[in-house]
Amino acid sequence: MSQTEPDSESETGTPGNGERPVATDDDADEDVVLRTRDLTKFFGAIEAVRNVSIDVNADEVLAIAGDNGAGKTTLIKMLSGVLRPTRGEIYLRKDGRLVEQYFSSSKDAMDAGIATVYQEQHLSPNASAASNIFLGMEPLEPGPAGWLLRRVDRETMVSESRSLLNDIGFDFDPRSPVNELSGGQKQAVAVARALIRDPPIIILDEPTSEVSTTGTDKIIDLVRRIPDGEKSVILISHKIDVVVDVADRIAVMRDGEIVDVLHTGRDDVERMDIVERMHRERER
Ligand SMILES: Nc1ncnc2c1ncn2[C@@H]1O[C@H](COP(=O)(O)OP(=O)(O)OP(=O)(O)O)[C@@H](O)[C@H]1O
Ligand SMILES: [Mg+2]
Repeated sequence: MSQTEPDSESETGTPGNGERPVATDDDADEDVVLRTRDLTKFFGAIEAVRNVSIDVNADEVLAIAGDNGAGKTTLIKMLSGVLRPTRGEIYLRKDGRLVEQYFSSSKDAMDAGIATVYQEQHLSPNASAASNIFLGMEPLEPGPAGWLLRRVDRETMVSESRSLLNDIGFDFDPRSPVNELSGGQKQAVAVARALIRDPPIIILDEPTSEVSTTGTDKIIDLVRRIPDGEKSVILISHKIDVVVDVADRIAVMRDGEIVDVLHTGRDDVERMDIVERMHRERER
């Protein structure tokens, strides 16, 4: 079908399945790595997410704050390929352009560079931390043991898991089964599992109940460490103090909509101000 395309510029410019390049009006905004336009999700008659248009910039932490049921998880599930949007668009920067994406699975989103740590962690409880971190990308032993017998290189898995967990401030034994770990340690495993894939965009949907205070502190530290000049983080948290501390911008969601975007560096953002914006309509 594309055989006679006259001005296809390069091989890399040719879109693969499920995507097409779109020159959006402000495509010149080079910092944008992820863009949504009018992203909307209905569950039956419930409009869980409504017309969300937001940009995520390179090397920034964008927090999404909002009450229970505001639509945060639904929004990020569309970004991570778990839910198909009812309406609206998702763009990712590829080869210098913003390209519209059509994810039909979380693998699609992962392959496109979005790794998500879900609220429900989806870890295998009986498997070790290292096995969970390397799930689906286990290294094979060198030599015939690997290429012939397909034997998994557990030593490498354990040592690389150990160093990755150390990087994010944890020092438990990666050979421990996940069901023996604390909430914070489990969260670290889930984060390490995302990080090891080295994605440009990481989404963290923070569990609110299971994580102890120290666990939460570690996750804050961890979020602080992630951006490295390339990575962008979308952080969902109920803990407003956390959000004010680590985020560059805070998108406030209420009843499925983004009602405010605050810049922590530019605006004088107060905890109570965010809480007030989260609740404003409802309390009237
Ligand atoms: N699979 C589903 N089917 C029907 N309704 C859903 C589904 N998932 C979410 N909803 C509804 O959509 C709305 C948004 O839910 P969502 O889980 O996105 O909120 P949230 O901001 O992540 O909340 P929380 O802070 O409690 O995690 C809620 O009204 C919720 O009941
Ligand atoms: Mg949620």
